[in-house]
Amino acid sequence: MPLKTLQQLLDEGVRGRHILVRSDFNVPLDDNGTITDAGRIDASLPTLKALLDGGAKVIVMAHLGRPKGEFKPEFSLRPVAESLSERLGRFVALAGDVSGEDAHERANGLTEGDILLLENVRFDARETSKDEAERESFAAELAALAADNGAFVSDGFGVVHRKQASVYDVARKLPAYAGYLVEKEVNTLQSVKDDPKHPYVVVLGGSKVSDKLGVIEALAEKADKVIIGGGMCYTFLTALGHNVQKSLLQEDMVDTCAQLIERYGDKLVLPEDLAAAPEFDKNAERKIVGLDEIPDGWMSLDIGPRTAESFGAVIADSKTVFWNGPMGVFEFPAFADGTKAVAEAMIEATSANDSFTVVGGGDSAAAVRALGLDENGFSHISTGGGASLELIEGKELPGVTVVSE
Ligand code: 3PG
Repeated sequence: MPLKTLQQLLDEGVRGRHILVRSDFNVPLDDNGTITDAGRIDASLPTLKALLDGGAKVIVMAHLGRPKGEFKPEFSLRPVAESLSERLGRFVALAGDVSGEDAHERANGLTEGDILLLENVRFDARETSKDEAERESFAAELAALAADNGAFVSDGFGVVHRKQASVYDVARKLPAYAGYLVEKEVNTLQSVKDDPKHPYVVVLGGSKVSDKLGVIEALAEKADKVIIGGGMCYTFLTALGHNVQKSLLQEDMVDTCAQLIERYGDKLVLPEDLAAAPEFDKNAERKIVGLDEIPDGWMSLDIGPRTAESFGAVIADSKTVFWNGPMGVFEFPAFADGTKAVAEAMIEATSANDSFTVVGGGDSAAAVRALGLDENGFSHISTGGGASLELIEGKELPGVTVVSE
């Protein structure tokens, strides 16, 4: 189904119209409330600029964290409003509420080329409600902000897998279009899903096998190799009979992992060595060990150097790579090598082998930036973690379907 694009809306004309935009500003904050990675804010700028330059009255909806339907100051979008003001070079007002009196007054007061950010949509419990009627009533209040001649633009790619009021229900109440970011993400990821060049290598990390089970199954059918590292590899290693000591383990998934190993055999590429530590600590001692050599009571926090090399060799051969999930605890510098090695192998494959390399959002994208790697070295860095995985897996994304023809 083709997307209804922002270009179509711009061609129709946006001057003087209220345009509601759903962005994904779910950015990490440090203890002082300072944004530590503004990647998602930057990715939202092309759509916002195009609308503002076209003379629209822009109203942006976004969430931050999971405040569970209550106003909690630590989840306020104030730092985002400030960062957005700086990046756009124009003042971004922050409404004092989501769809209440202040939001309405400010929306009515907008003039051409003005931009208003509503407070965190998840301050209203109806946003994420499973009850359709509740979501509908919230969506109606949001849509009312766009007055009579308004429109909706879906540009929060990171959240399009959520059937939530500001993502899905509101789009059914107004003429609805996909923003530049959603269009780019969907087209890029869909080409990887539908027509990857071979060898097609999928690299999966992250902590829970159960979260990635659908992906492993869907992708193992299509990919030539599925590399498995990160927290979830220890459940696979257990299924192979290794003693992973205190490493992360999902015991209830060991049998499932054993079945996956049996079904996909060599297609699954697992670690050969590990970087172990006596405790989960940034300054913990680091010891490179074989798969059966994790000392009693220790845990593995990263893949080892031989593994990094063999994962790298598989990636070097690829024509397509999709990577989701770090290989280790990259936030601890001593245990960042595996993640760094995979990212560097992808960058090298992009330039040396003309491989199409995609970083699937979330922690992996954050790792690329935190480790100071060249973001332009990859073919595409997605802003969506769960969303990119669900798209690649072939699931329907409500926030995309609702802006399709
Ligand atoms: C994300 O950070 O992946 C998106 O913003 C979605 O957030 P959620 O997982 O809290 O719905």
